[in-house]
Amino acid sequence: MRNQFLNQEGKIIVGDLMTDKIWDSYLPKKFQTLSPYQWTPIFVIERTWKFLLEDQVKSVLDLGSGVGKFCVYLSLLSKGSFPILGLEDRKELVSVSQAMKEQWKATNVDFQNTNFLKDFPLGHSHYYCFNPLYETMKGSHRIDDLKEKSANQFLKDLQSLKLNFLLLKPKTKLITYHGFGGSYLPGFKIILKEEIENGEFKVWERE
Ligand SMILES: C[S@@+](CC[C@H](N)C(=O)[O-])C[C@H]1O[C@@H](n2cnc3c(N)ncnc32)[C@H](O)[C@@H]1O
Repeated sequence: MRNQFLNQEGKIIVGDLMTDKIWDSYLPKKFQTLSPYQWTPIFVIERTWKFLLEDQVKSVLDLGSGVGKFCVYLSLLSKGSFPILGLEDRKELVSVSQAMKEQWKATNVDFQNTNFLKDFPLGHSHYYCFNPLYETMKGSHRIDDLKEKSANQFLKDLQSLKLNFLLLKPKTKLITYHGFGGSYLPGFKIILKEEIENGEFKVWERE
């Protein structure tokens, strides 16, 4: 799948390699520099696609979709063959995601400005997250100063996320890169675990 990307006009060039440098170059400058810390690397999205190719996919939901890199590139790889939804609580990032969707002419992908902890979306076959809660703990490479850093808040959010995951139907998959915030997820078993791009890539299945 590492064989195509779109040029400036949004035309697919078969035979060329998609790289983080190319994808990120379309982002506003301030979000380009955050990419190694905040946005899923291209290789990890391609690994996810390889996994999904062998699985029954109804729809994919990205919990904390940032600038839309995971959703938009997955939509290009899958040629819009299943719905992809990104939920993001920062309005500015949702606008960037919509712009990226248009730039790359991605189909069957959408973004909503919402807090997934307050309104957790059930019913998707696959969920993805790149450690969205961690920013409550961490000071460096932060997206902005909008969120308070608090270990207490992190633990509360983690508990709420785990309870929401428990509501998912058996066989639902959760794909994580750098985890979801905790190390143990009640009601789930790990069906895939790999070290890629300096992070842990895992697939959890609801029992
Ligand atoms: C590490 S970034 C990952 C972005 C994207 N999934 C990707 O892989 O490129 C985590 C994102 O989650 C968002 N986020 C964190 N908590 C959230 C919440 N409760 N609801 C919605 N978005 C959230 C942050 O604003 C950030 O954009």
